[in-house]
Amino acid sequence: MTNSGNGDGLSLQQQVEILKQQLAQSQRLTALGELVSTTTHEFNNVLMTILNYAKMGVRHKDAATRDKCFEKILASANRAATITNTVLGMARNRSASQEATDLVKLVDNTLLLLEREMNKYRVVVEKSYQQIPLALVNGNQIQQVLLNLLINARQAMPSGGRLWIKLLYDAENNMVDMVIRDNGCGIPADKLPRIFESFYTTKSGPDASGKGGTGLGLSMCRDIIESHHGRIRVDSTVGKGTAFTLKLPVAKEAPKQPASTPSVAIAAAPTATLTN
Ligand SMILES: Nc1ncnc2c1ncn2[C@@H]1O[C@H](COP(=O)(O)OP(=O)(O)OP(=O)(O)O)[C@@H](O)[C@H]1O
Ligand SMILES: [Mg+2]
Repeated sequence: MTNSGNGDGLSLQQQVEILKQQLAQSQRLTALGELVSTTTHEFNNVLMTILNYAKMGVRHKDAATRDKCFEKILASANRAATITNTVLGMARNRSASQEATDLVKLVDNTLLLLEREMNKYRVVVEKSYQQIPLALVNGNQIQQVLLNLLINARQAMPSGGRLWIKLLYDAENNMVDMVIRDNGCGIPADKLPRIFESFYTTKSGPDASGKGGTGLGLSMCRDIIESHHGRIRVDSTVGKGTAFTLKLPVAKEAPKQPASTPSVAIAAAPTATLTN
């Protein structure tokens, strides 16, 4: 008798492992697809700026105006280069290797990709970065996590709001903390334990920007953070907002320095917290 079917000769555990890997691969592709659609719009925006200043430079012959136009064109072209490099980096890099990474640069580049989208939904982004050491991470994976957290935050504020992103050094644990906080709808305490489950979603499907609704975002975030031996924690208050805190390992023993702020400052009580 011949055997047929996919799972031949493999234990149930091995089959689950293979399916998990396939799921991770399709999550990566979904993230890439979302990134491509976001960046295409963003790129087009930059191109419009370049075109307009080039036209202005052609029309106005005086040196001062032309200098200004060239400066604007140069800045926009640099922005365009950052955008394409980020997408190409994510598309090319399939390795899971973890390297010393500048999280300030990673956060800035990611925010650059979402600038237009945040403006469109009237979300004001506030950044605050403390002095932090390099983190030992896979930059692409952490960017994927960050994109999902930022898009979740944006979706929790359908009529606009505020998003705070903080980077700080937790000297006591020698970890880098990344906090993403919004003042959106919040998550009810009884739903909080479910948000990291695969396929748990409260969204009816992709929104007008084609994002959200599969319920895989946070489960992917948790898997990625776990593979970094990091931590992901959520604090949320209905009607006040939600804060996700990521704790990531530093690249090497950083010099102990006094931490100027306690590790996390989160919205007022009553607050539900869940740590993974
Ligand atoms: N910042 C937030 N504010 C309020 N609710 C949130 C926030 N982040 C996540 N949630 C809740 O957790 C659920 C799960 O989030 P998750 O990112 O895993 O899936 P999703 O955003 O629904 O879909 P996708 O897989 O496309 O990301 C969301 O549907 C939402 O109800
Ligand atoms: Mg999501």
